Amino acid sequence: MRLLLLLVLLGPQTSQACPGVKTVVSSKGLDYVTNLVTDWVQKKILSADLPVISGSVDIGIGSVGYALYDMRVVKVDMPQPSVNFVEKTGVRVELSGLSIAVEGRWRTSYGIIKDGGSFDLALFDVSTSSLLQLESDYQARLAVECLSCDAQIGNVDINFHGGASFIIDVFVKFFPGRIKSLVEDHICPIVQDQVKNLEGILAAIKVDYPVYPNLIFSVPLTNSPVVQSSGMELDSKGVFYSATHPKEPPFPSEDFQLPSEAGYMISMGISQYSLNTYAYACLTDGLFQINITDKMIPPSVHFRLNTSSFGVFIPQLPKMFPNMLMVLQVFADEAPAVSLHMDSFSLLLTATVKAYAIDNTTAYRPLFRLKLTTEFSGKLNIGNNTLMGNMQFQNLTLSLVTSQIGTFQTKTLEGTASFLVKSYLPKLNAMLQKGFPLPVAKGVTLAGPVLQVQQGFLAVYSNVQINLPSRTWEEL
Ligand SMILES: *[C@@H]1O[C@H](CO)[C@@H](O)[C@H](O)[C@H]1NC(C)=O
Ligand SMILES: *[C@@H]1O[C@H](CO)[C@@H](O)[C@H](O)[C@H]1NC(C)=O
Ligand SMILES: *[C@@H]1O[C@H](CO)[C@@H](O)[C@H](O)[C@H]1NC(C)=O
Ligand SMILES: *[C@@H]1O[C@H](CO)[C@@H](O)[C@H](O)[C@H]1NC(C)=O
Ligand SMILES: *[C@@H]1O[C@H](CO)[C@@H](O)[C@H](O)[C@H]1NC(C)=O
Repeated sequence: MRLLLLLVLLGPQTSQACPGVKTVVSSKGLDYVTNLVTDWVQKKILSADLPVISGSVDIGIGSVGYALYDMRVVKVDMPQPSVNFVEKTGVRVELSGLSIAVEGRWRTSYGIIKDGGSFDLALFDVSTSSLLQLESDYQARLAVECLSCDAQIGNVDINFHGGASFIIDVFVKFFPGRIKSLVEDHICPIVQDQVKNLEGILAAIKVDYPVYPNLIFSVPLTNSPVVQSSGMELDSKGVFYSATHPKEPPFPSEDFQLPSEAGYMISMGISQYSLNTYAYACLTDGLFQINITDKMIPPSVHFRLNTSSFGVFIPQLPKMFPNMLMVLQVFADEAPAVSLHMDSFSLLLTATVKAYAIDNTTAYRPLFRLKLTTEFSGKLNIGNNTLMGNMQFQNLTLSLVTSQIGTFQTKTLEGTASFLVKSYLPKLNAMLQKGFPLPVAKGVTLAGPVLQVQQGFLAVYSNVQINLPSRTWEEL
């Protein structure tokens, strides 16, 4: 348990691994979010629960205890806030020229004289500025903290209604001068509360996502967010693991520089390393193995998976093992390797093929072992929140590794295997053309995404459209 804790604590700091996925939010993206949030903030202020303000004022002839309560915001006039990235820190949120009208009730007590009534209050030219720090928390998630906040109120207008005692007249003379600083003192705690709220939302974001088939995509941050005035870059691990047999990939991550595109709200880079960890995770999960049997060959096909048919490729086989069915165990001993080049990618598959004859006691009689290597090249494109691809066959080689039936030429077998792979390709391409949905959060749509295949990584540039159901906003 303690070791686990230690590992968690050491985790993010000691991981020297380069990020597999980089996400940049540009100033344009921040402006978009600001626009979305402004409306929400305005509604939030309108529905805010205002605390009771109470205290006492010295009116020269003693002190008057007062309380302002049952307050509610009746009108908000909110200009567009200015929100900007601050280099090496985070985000500065500035708001000026905000006006708020509040109605409520008051009560005073001076000795045994108690009094009360209603009031209306207008705050003009409220301005606030807060600096939020963006960082990586101990669990390598994005975290936000309020570094500083200040608030000023330009002008306050308060009118008291009701009140029968002489005290209220004296009180009203003294009080307005004080309300400004009283309310000013209440603004930053509200801002800090909201930042805590946001921090709670960020802390609830997962860093591990289940992905098809039975894998985990792990995206904790590898370092603190890199904030520049033009945008913020989040670097995450971006490694796929098998859910049942998680294992660190045996190949190293390589850093890449994601060129920024200020015209898009978000840019995302996915490294070739990250894609290869997907393949490695599938491999550790045992997904790259298949036993090919005669039953899998449609009855209409004349060629059967038996030692007689295989005589075409290996003349001695039907003599040594006459008329027996065969099984081919195909498994990858290495993960397929994806390489990304300018505008295209290549895919290298290597597999081992073990051939058996099944004798009349259903025992497997080992025949030979082949190494199969095949290469494809391909193109990727993007549309409708979907990543699509197209692959072309390059070549396929078979070489004999071991044999229980003596040596034989693999050329004819190689030709047949190439033919089979090529004839399967249109089916595969139809699947690739259907595409894979891009991992975007619910309610988020990519608008006009552009995909670039670069040397060593994929870059996706896009604007986004966020359509959260109104219920979600209310819950925030
Ligand atoms: C293939 O057959 C072997 C031997 O019968 C078995 O151990 C293995 O699990 C099979 N693999 C698959 C993917 O069915
Ligand atoms: C082997 O395949 C040939 C056709 O290539 C077929 O005529 C023969 O019946 C098959 N033998 C077995 C045992 O399935
Ligand atoms: C199995 O085949 C062998 C020859 O390969 C033969 O001697 C034996 O009788 C056969 N057994 C059965 C049960 O058919
Ligand atoms: C886009 O994707 C949605 C959902 O996956 C699908 O319903 C729609 O038909 C797709 N549109 C096009 C033009 O492919
Ligand atoms: C297979 O194709 C790739 C890509 O075209 C090429 O780099 C490689 O040398 C080829 N391998 C063989 C054995 O021909």
